[in-house]
Amino acid sequence: MGGGGGPLFSLGLELAVRVTEILEFNKDLVLAREQIFEKYNYHQKAKELATYITNELGRRWGVVNRMIEEVQKEPLEESSSLLRACLRVGAFEVYFDNKNPNHVLKSLGPFFRKKKVKKGFINRLRYVLFEVKKFRINPPADFLEWAFWHHFFPKWIAERLAEQFGQEEALKLMEHMNQHPSMSIRVNTRLADVDALRKALTEKYGFQVEKAKVYPFLTMPRTYPVMRTEEYKEGMFIVQDVNTAYGISRLLDLLPEGATLFDACAAPGRKSSLVTQLRSDIRFVCADISKLRLTKLVNGFERLKLPLPPILVADAAHPPFKVQFDAVHADLPCSGSGTWGKHPERRWFTTPIRYKECVEIQRRLLSSLIPLVKPGGYLLYSTCSIWREENEENTRWMQEEFGLRLIEEKRIFPENASTGFYYAIMKVEGEPPPKKLAEGIYTCEVPSKYERVYLACSLIGCGGFCVHNMSYNMIL
Ligand SMILES: C[S@@+](CC[C@H](N)C(=O)[O-])C[C@H]1O[C@@H](n2cnc3c(N)ncnc32)[C@H](O)[C@@H]1O
Repeated sequence: MGGGGGPLFSLGLELAVRVTEILEFNKDLVLAREQIFEKYNYHQKAKELATYITNELGRRWGVVNRMIEEVQKEPLEESSSLLRACLRVGAFEVYFDNKNPNHVLKSLGPFFRKKKVKKGFINRLRYVLFEVKKFRINPPADFLEWAFWHHFFPKWIAERLAEQFGQEEALKLMEHMNQHPSMSIRVNTRLADVDALRKALTEKYGFQVEKAKVYPFLTMPRTYPVMRTEEYKEGMFIVQDVNTAYGISRLLDLLPEGATLFDACAAPGRKSSLVTQLRSDIRFVCADISKLRLTKLVNGFERLKLPLPPILVADAAHPPFKVQFDAVHADLPCSGSGTWGKHPERRWFTTPIRYKECVEIQRRLLSSLIPLVKPGGYLLYSTCSIWREENEENTRWMQEEFGLRLIEEKRIFPENASTGFYYAIMKVEGEPPPKKLAEGIYTCEVPSKYERVYLACSLIGCGGFCVHNMSYNMIL
């Protein structure tokens, strides 16, 4: 990739610089790109080039920074944010994308004129790009150096991976997280047939699509612009990594007809829409602390034309229920270490204490959610982390602290940059530990557009749960 030259290359570089400038502050490439692409609605090819550059630069963020600082002998912080972004994009282009420094500078010319940058700015950029072009990586002295320069992982992460899984497995994991991401989609079997959709995506759009081992998923060896297809707009499928569906599918196998389920961290709703898609008999309540993300859940259900379950904006640390459920799904916030293939920049923006903060939050939320499971019911715990502390160690903790019985657990390592995932299905045996539940009325926030689904919900004394504004009344 990379584009030879011309106006589209210029526009692609400009977009890449603008995204990179934001990325440094918001630390999220997807959001940075969304923001810039919406503001500068340039040609699709320019956006594709900027997506490629920022993904690959994001993957090498720390390595590119190190190269620039070594050649200019000055910390990047000494430069303005615009110069930093130009240095990073330029250094990536000349070193990793094998571009000529003069060509990069010339292509950035129209952008420099728009920005009215000074001559000194361009001279500094020119000097660094020519020096980076000559940069030679010394033969790595050890495993950590190798991981940094050749797999583009911060040393502390490589060290943790080796500690937890051994060096050989750590190297394999890093390789997998640097592969071109494959893609999987879940067919909305209420609107489409798996074979017919596979045929349509292959024949109409030329995508390479195969049936996945797990029903009703299709996989593709690389990413395609599937969200621009008619079939997507009509709600025939949702983009979902197949690894993330194992836990919830197994839970559904265990739940009897008409069982009640609370999805405590449901947004943006990929797994909850799978529940509704496959099991319309399940009596289901979804919640999340983020109203914005719940709006995405609502949009998703609408596009898939699935009936919306009751939805609450609620903190899982204080779930607003006086009742218990046959099952609780705790798909909790985590360090996201299993997603460093799909979101390559995040390995550079996370911190060595992030997983510890996550374990604290996870245990706090689990302590509030476990008492919501009826005796004999199930808790499904899952994360998209690969760290043992957030996975197996939390499961052992639930066994020891709450006497839960482990039914099954599975850790799925990321392959072909797929999402690394962990789940454990636990059974609550006997009486769960007592929990004091507050009396009263709980009012949930209502984003105005979706008033009809965001509800004022009150707890009623008989242990029922009543949802207003909707012809839905659920007695658990
Ligand atoms: C891993 S995501 C859930 C993904 C979702 N289950 C799906 O399949 O699309 C974790 C979610 O937890 C939510 N969250 C974080 N802290 C929370 C809390 N204290 N209470 C409820 N939800 C929370 C986040 O807003 C985020 O949407």
